[in-house]
Amino acid sequence: MEIRIALPKGRLGEKAYDILKKNGYECLELEGKSRKLVFFNEEKNISYFMVKPSDVPTYVERGAADIGIVGKDTLLEEEADVYELLDLGFGKCKFAIAAPNGFVEDESKPLIVATKYVNVCKNYYDKKDRKIDIVKLNGSVELGPLVNLSDVILDIVETGSTLKENNLSVIEDVADISARLIANKSSFKFKRNKIENIVEAIKKEIGV
Ligand code: PRP
Repeated sequence: MEIRIALPKGRLGEKAYDILKKNGYECLELEGKSRKLVFFNEEKNISYFMVKPSDVPTYVERGAADIGIVGKDTLLEEEADVYELLDLGFGKCKFAIAAPNGFVEDESKPLIVATKYVNVCKNYYDKKDRKIDIVKLNGSVELGPLVNLSDVILDIVETGSTLKENNLSVIEDVADISARLIANKSSFKFKRNKIENIVEAIKKEIGV
């Protein structure tokens, strides 16, 4: 039975592929420079799809791919109905709320939050029972509070340098992020052995 793997284009996908390659899941076709999106290794009976990172959960949830590699940020935002099999331990960063240095919240008003991650934001403030007004942006979210578009931001913080250079600081941590291995629920039932072999190989490689 063929195993179809959705890899996110970019650094996360490259790192995940390196691990898979070292453990017998290589696909030489994928390593050349090409604009192709599907790659096969007929001998190993595996195929790889290169997809936009935020689309990985969709391919896996709908069964177009059996397994996939995705950041926990995307997984939390997309809310896909998939199994999360493994924390790969790389691609580490966090979701945080950040505000201009010295920010004092006015609790009598809805908090205006700029973010790319609308669902993560809603879920976080719902739990706190805090009324908010979400401003959906598609990038450079840090600009929001600097030009009075929002009070605060919910964004990814990795090194913290983007915040620092824009006189913002973390006021609350929301969630830890790292790369995860996910599986389609019915693939996990019907291709369990093959998927578990991949899980074991990755575990050995990353030392968990
Ligand atoms: C991400 C994130 C922050 C930045 C955090 O943005 O949204 O802006 O990286 O990294 P740091 O803590 O190491 O500075 P990305 O580069 O993906 O682009 P974007 O601003 O367009 O979302």
